[in-house]
Amino acid sequence: MTRIIEELDAQQSARAFSDRDAFALDVLVGLSETRKTLPSKYMYDDEGSRLFEQITRLPEYYLTDCELDTLQRHRDRIADYAPRAPFHVIEFGAGSLRKPGILIDRFVERGLDFEYVPVDISREAMESLAGDLERRYPEVAMRGLVSDYLTGIHWLTGNTRRRSFVLFLGSNIGNFNRAQATLFLRKLWNGLSDGDVVLIGFDLRKDIELLLAAYNDSQGVTKQFNLNLMRRINRELGGHFNLDAFRHFATYDVISGAMESYLVSQGEQDVYIEAVERSFSFHAWEPIHTEYSYKYLESDIDLLAQTTGFRVKEHLYDSKGYFVDSLWEVHKTDAPGSPDQPSARRSGT
Ligand code: AVJ
Repeated sequence: MTRIIEELDAQQSARAFSDRDAFALDVLVGLSETRKTLPSKYMYDDEGSRLFEQITRLPEYYLTDCELDTLQRHRDRIADYAPRAPFHVIEFGAGSLRKPGILIDRFVERGLDFEYVPVDISREAMESLAGDLERRYPEVAMRGLVSDYLTGIHWLTGNTRRRSFVLFLGSNIGNFNRAQATLFLRKLWNGLSDGDVVLIGFDLRKDIELLLAAYNDSQGVTKQFNLNLMRRINRELGGHFNLDAFRHFATYDVISGAMESYLVSQGEQDVYIEAVERSFSFHAWEPIHTEYSYKYLESDIDLLAQTTGFRVKEHLYDSKGYFVDSLWEVHKTDAPGSPDQPSARRSGT
């Protein structure tokens, strides 16, 4: 009998393990847990990105209006931090030109030398972004990366010759818990150089009624956005979810500061998913957790910057004080997490 030992190089197996396989595996793992869960990053296929764009225009979803207001009010202040040398404007989770356009306007006006590098998981969103940029700023170069955040950071790491101005807007960081946010920012820090600038949008803790309304809008767009996760499993993985048998539910945890979104099974049911060749049982009123949207205190933001190797330069607010765009600078002289003042180390006496 032949015995074959084959060495697969990592590249090759990574390619064979397709995006669809990764999605299927994440769904299998998430739905097999005792507390069922689905990763929120899968909400952003082309359809999900369209639905989210609709959410940003809802009266109850204050986040987008507040951040647009913040960027308008402070655009000159922000532009003051742009490097004089050629730089990349890297935007994680770009989506549309509405927000970065406010800053690009200023950069162009000041005759700065930069290239726009949006990172977004949806190809359709990226193409519409490229079209908008071409119409509004035909002179601005763009290199769109249709990828997840980590691949974006990986690209950054290989492109260290230019300075970086990183945009991570919209409270996208809110989808991470504190540990995940710390890990992401440390990886980002690793890909950046001393003096590079990062602008991060944080949604602040506020009146709970405002939070609940923002994630339970009266037109039901957020519900459709959440349900799209199941629609996507049906479409791409041969899932058999009956969307009418689940309801959208969003609630706020005052302790952790997270808005939490769920899809709740309205009755006992089994759902078969072809790609993983098994079915999943739901009890009546059993939830699937689908998303966290963490809300911050200013002190949380300062601590997060400090523990990941950044220096907070400015907290920039909207007129209502609902949202912060926090402007950070990379410091490579002190290692992430080390205190600013080297504390008096006890010498062995
Ligand atoms: C795009 C992650 C910032 O958490 O507020 C909107 C997504 N979910 N309504 C958010 C979302 C429900 C949004 N982020």
